[in-house]
Amino acid sequence: MAAGGQGGIRPVRWHRNTLVVIDQTRLPQEYVERTLRSVEDVAEAINRLRVRGAPLIGITAAYGVALAASLAPEPTAIRAAIDQLRATRPTARDLFAALDRMERAATHNPADPARVLLDEALAIHAADLTAGRLIATQAAQVFTTPGWTMTICNTGALATGGEGTALGLIAAGYRLGLVSGVYVLETRPILQGARLTAWELQQLDIPFQLLPDSAAASLIATGRVAAIATGADRIARNGDTANKVGTRMLAELADRHQVPFHIVAPRTTFDAATPSGAAIPIEQRAGVEVMVFNGQPVAPDGTTVYNPAFDVTDAGLIGSYVTDAGVFAPNELEDSRIWN
Ligand code: MRU
Repeated sequence: MAAGGQGGIRPVRWHRNTLVVIDQTRLPQEYVERTLRSVEDVAEAINRLRVRGAPLIGITAAYGVALAASLAPEPTAIRAAIDQLRATRPTARDLFAALDRMERAATHNPADPARVLLDEALAIHAADLTAGRLIATQAAQVFTTPGWTMTICNTGALATGGEGTALGLIAAGYRLGLVSGVYVLETRPILQGARLTAWELQQLDIPFQLLPDSAAASLIATGRVAAIATGADRIARNGDTANKVGTRMLAELADRHQVPFHIVAPRTTFDAATPSGAAIPIEQRAGVEVMVFNGQPVAPDGTTVYNPAFDVTDAGLIGSYVTDAGVFAPNELEDSRIWN
């Protein structure tokens, strides 16, 4: 079983033929674990963002296949579980990378599919923890100008197997004295920044300030942001990157104000089969997420809503890609070791 990650947080763990996850929709008010007992439970948890973040979606789905195999080890049932999980969220590359791995493990017709698929899920989880630790080792190379770093959404332990991507890197930079604190965008409409990143930074005892997404431009213009580091949901072959909606805004601002802008992601987020950002499927979420705030309607009935979960940042706006295989400039991506 994989050990706990940053701050001792274990966002997902296999426990006696069930999957135990932190229900992230309840944070920060309540820390509640939820036991998932079927592939339907796993698909619901991913759809409802009880578990979220590209690497964690992939890991949880892999365990979901193992769970399905433990209940019904027939090839058709395993195939149906994989198909059901593929349909949960369309943007995160890590989901499809993990399910492809599970499918390959299943196609060898193992004598004991439940055992083989659980071992594969555990290996996917362990590989992500290793990738997160390797990413964090790049902090000294990334944060060359000490100061406050800005980030969006949640890219910490809660978004991964337990080590984080951009937030893990930022935490490592803080421990080295290169990051003084973190400007956290609240991340409308689901507030992953306010609810999850602020909570994680409190656990880690790292100074932070929370700001409305719309305050980013004026804050960056003051010169108080030394660097911007975000995660990614899918990185296309040309370096265009899908991440939480609002990331593109930060990249445009970084470009205008000459602030280093870093995309931080493990190799499982890089997608050699998608040529450019135009081909990345962007998840559109329900209008209710924008129409209702804190349980109260905030727009008149009949309002139509544009609610993409992600946006695409052009490779030309990205300063570097920080990965478990090293740090790459956009013009170094082509020949780098991240495509395998
Ligand atoms: O909709 P979410 O919360 O799953 O979106 C998460 C993000 O956009 C993260 O930045 C990305 O998945 C990287 S997580 C390490």
